[in-house]
Amino acid sequence: MTASTPATKKLFIKTYGCQMNVYDSQRMAEAMGAEGYVLTEDQSDADMVLLNTCHIREKAAEKLYSDLGRLKPLKAARPDLKIGVAGCVAQAEGAEIIRRMPLVDLVVGPQTYHRLPAMARGEIAAIQTDFPQEDKFEHLPARTSLNPATRRAPTAFLTVQEGCDKFCAFCVVPYTRGAEVSRPAPRILSEARDLVSRGVREITLLGQNVNAWHGAAPASDPAGGEWGFGRLIRALAQIEGLARIRYTTSHPNDMGDDLIAAHGDVAQLMPYLHLPVQSGSDRILKAMNRKHTADHYLRLIDRIRAARPDIVLTSDFIVGFPGETDQDHADTLRLIEQVGFGMAYSFKYSPRPGTPAYDRPEVEPAVADARLQELQALLTRQQKAVQQDMVGRTVGVLFEKAGREPGQMIGKSDYLHAVFVDTTDVQIGDLRQVRIKNSAANSLHGELLP
Ligand code: SAH
Ligand code: SF4
Ligand code: F3S
Repeated sequence: MTASTPATKKLFIKTYGCQMNVYDSQRMAEAMGAEGYVLTEDQSDADMVLLNTCHIREKAAEKLYSDLGRLKPLKAARPDLKIGVAGCVAQAEGAEIIRRMPLVDLVVGPQTYHRLPAMARGEIAAIQTDFPQEDKFEHLPARTSLNPATRRAPTAFLTVQEGCDKFCAFCVVPYTRGAEVSRPAPRILSEARDLVSRGVREITLLGQNVNAWHGAAPASDPAGGEWGFGRLIRALAQIEGLARIRYTTSHPNDMGDDLIAAHGDVAQLMPYLHLPVQSGSDRILKAMNRKHTADHYLRLIDRIRAARPDIVLTSDFIVGFPGETDQDHADTLRLIEQVGFGMAYSFKYSPRPGTPAYDRPEVEPAVADARLQELQALLTRQQKAVQQDMVGRTVGVLFEKAGREPGQMIGKSDYLHAVFVDTTDVQIGDLRQVRIKNSAANSLHGELLP
């Protein structure tokens, strides 16, 4: 290396939590890339370690502190190592993180991470957790400014909406991510076109309430007016080369008519929908401030299935919410029976400081554990049944990577099942028709159609 070549610095990022954090980590890596940082997989080799954190449940937040504890010897050996905490714990705890763990140099929230380069240069304060007026996306390096030859994996995330105004009684997201904001349609469309030009074939649109997205129609739309999320999906479906569109996470109260209709008539919109319901008891839904009933959810599912009969539905459940009785739990099990989910995440309620439910009397932990087990057993049976139902069917599979066995490729089906195929005939990024031969615990096996 000559004296004039600046040494590249190495950045290690660990991402916790939801897909939005995965997307944010990529954007932070790109922003730091403009500062001469390249990503490393090896923490011990890094000049900067960035932990992009999640605050949703107590366990998730505590993980940060145990990981920081493990960084102590590395920081002791290399005091110039910069340690940054980003994401939702950074937002919720701010300066408290440095008080508890003085080895941390930088704390940056989810709405201020465009300032990370200036923070790393020491030009601004080392703690940035306000909710700024400026839009971070406008201050991040545009994705189109990356080397045009940079190729991407066949699937990508694209954040279209952030924040939440719903204030469910258990949830930290409205406090860590701030108010609901939709990105403008032209920016989303140009980011999507850029991703597709780099080899992306499937885009998952992200938002805490992604289906609440709305925005002014772009100048190119003669009809003008306001676009809803369904209209945005229809516009994305016009992008040549974009084979698949998905979105997550949705709120039942924001499933608009046009979005439901799009599930029936936009071929690129995949037959899969994650629609969290949390509970099947109206009493508990009310206490959770969900603003919908179990019946409202069931009728919504009927309408979605009328538009797209083969759609696979998934959900989130919280068990042991304060005040939950055996009858409430039974109501949740009954709702699950009525819907038939392809998969679901279920969590034991975790009281979060600053949320309305925080101080409410908790359900006995042993009772909550037993309910969680019962609910998960039912969901596992449903998942198996939906996977078994795929056997014998022909589905589209987008191949994403090579399998561990030689001659094996792995992709995702239209219904988001992982599918293994023994073949030397496909490349990463190929979308092929596959006949499903059998179903294993968390994946399917299939063969290519000739
Ligand atoms: N915006 C999404 C989900 C956000 S958080 C939505 O509205 O559905 C993802 C999931 O974590 C939630 O759906 C909920 O099931 C779970 N969750 C959130 N807060 C929780 C808490 N305090 N305890 C247990 N689970 C929680
Ligand atoms: Fe949290 Fe409810 Fe907002 Fe989802 S809708 S992010 S669960 S407050
Ligand atoms: Fe966690 Fe924040 Fe996502 S709390 S789930 S990382 S929005």
